[in-house]
Amino acid sequence: MDKLQIVGGKRLNGEIPVSGAKNAALPILCAGLLTAGDLELSNVPRLHDVRTILKLLAQTGLKVTQDDERVTLNGANIDTLEAPYELVKTMRASILVLGPLLARFGQAKVSLPGGCAIGSRPVDQHIKGLRQMGAEITIEGGYIHARSNGKLKGARIHTDMITVTGTENLLMAATLAEGETVLENAAREPEVTDLANLLVAMGAKIEGIGTDRLVIQGVDALHGARHAVISDRIEAATFLCAVAATGGDILLTNTRTDIFDVALEKLREVGLQLDLQGDTIRARMDARPNPVSFRTTEYPGFPTDMQAQFMAVNTIANGPSKVTETIFENRFMHVQEMNRLGAQISTEGNTAFIKGVGRLVGAPVMATDLRASASLVIAGMAAEGTTLIDRIYHLDRGYDRMEVKLSAVGADIVRLK
Ligand code: EPU
Repeated sequence: MDKLQIVGGKRLNGEIPVSGAKNAALPILCAGLLTAGDLELSNVPRLHDVRTILKLLAQTGLKVTQDDERVTLNGANIDTLEAPYELVKTMRASILVLGPLLARFGQAKVSLPGGCAIGSRPVDQHIKGLRQMGAEITIEGGYIHARSNGKLKGARIHTDMITVTGTENLLMAATLAEGETVLENAAREPEVTDLANLLVAMGAKIEGIGTDRLVIQGVDALHGARHAVISDRIEAATFLCAVAATGGDILLTNTRTDIFDVALEKLREVGLQLDLQGDTIRARMDARPNPVSFRTTEYPGFPTDMQAQFMAVNTIANGPSKVTETIFENRFMHVQEMNRLGAQISTEGNTAFIKGVGRLVGAPVMATDLRASASLVIAGMAAEGTTLIDRIYHLDRGYDRMEVKLSAVGADIVRLK
């Protein structure tokens, strides 16, 4: 199993290109199931999760042609309406094939995703919404068996909580349903908006894009389209946290400056000097970070996917901070690992109290999930001496060659095979 070896204490200097967003690419690739036409996608990130979803899509009969960050999909010959356990168990986002398969072909069999390191993460809202659209759904042998008698029917759906992939699944299903669907309490994440924009380019009729009320008029068929996946705001903010922790001067390119206001505001509070221009962000840091307290919430609030990385910065801040996680019930697994590096963090329920110490000291640590892994990379770069991070396959799921990008700007970080 690969490990990352980091020698901390190096300032970061130089340019980092930001990749396309994982959480936009995954639903967008699944939208290839909705049409017999060609979907020509660019800025698709090179990630393990993208390879997994492409494998899953290919076994349905979807034709996949890939050239680096360009992917072309053709769904003219889909013949297997199934997502097997072997693939779904490795990536929960596989559930995103359910809505499109059911809407276009009238049936689907998708393995029920199992538990997950960061929380129980049920998919009841996806199922409830599809049932409201007339689907008959049973759970048997660990699989979701979904069937519709003819086309799905438009419905008014109010999800019990805001769910990102739930909104995406129901949105894709609604594009081919009969009549009007209203999705109330819809997720407003920029990745949902990116998917909605692609669907419109494919001929879907959607109003309220970017709001919590999406109104969809179903159409008979969708056609092919071209689309560039939106830039990854979480990857960008992860690099900004890295420079906040190590000090230095970096320029992020191929990024967006308008989709992570809350994180940027918090980074200014940390002490990062930010200069936003066009699709670039320059970030400079010369002092010890200030502590920042926050609560994670749905977009446009503070993203849960940035909680661990900000906590890494807080561990070496010049004062105490408090972090509350409200989206997932078990997303503090980085705390124990950071404490092994000398951080002083205690938790009470879903709140972490961070003291802020003068220095961290490198040690062997274990990555437990994707964003926790990124936070350990940041902590390792800020620590004195050598940190060895085990189980970095978690990192490869969602970051495009993170160690290559970071070593190009001066970090001492190598992958050990
Ligand atoms: N929930 C339910 N029932 C459902 C759906 C969700 O109870 O049917 C609960 C979840 O258990 C959770 C909350 O609702 O407590 C929100 O979950 P959501 O459905 O929004 O999460 P998701 O769609 O499974 C996506 C991202 C996550 C990100 C969350 C929150 C993708 C592929 N994944 O997950 O990304 O943390 O939204 O923003 O878009 C990551 O990239 O590291 C990652 C975990």
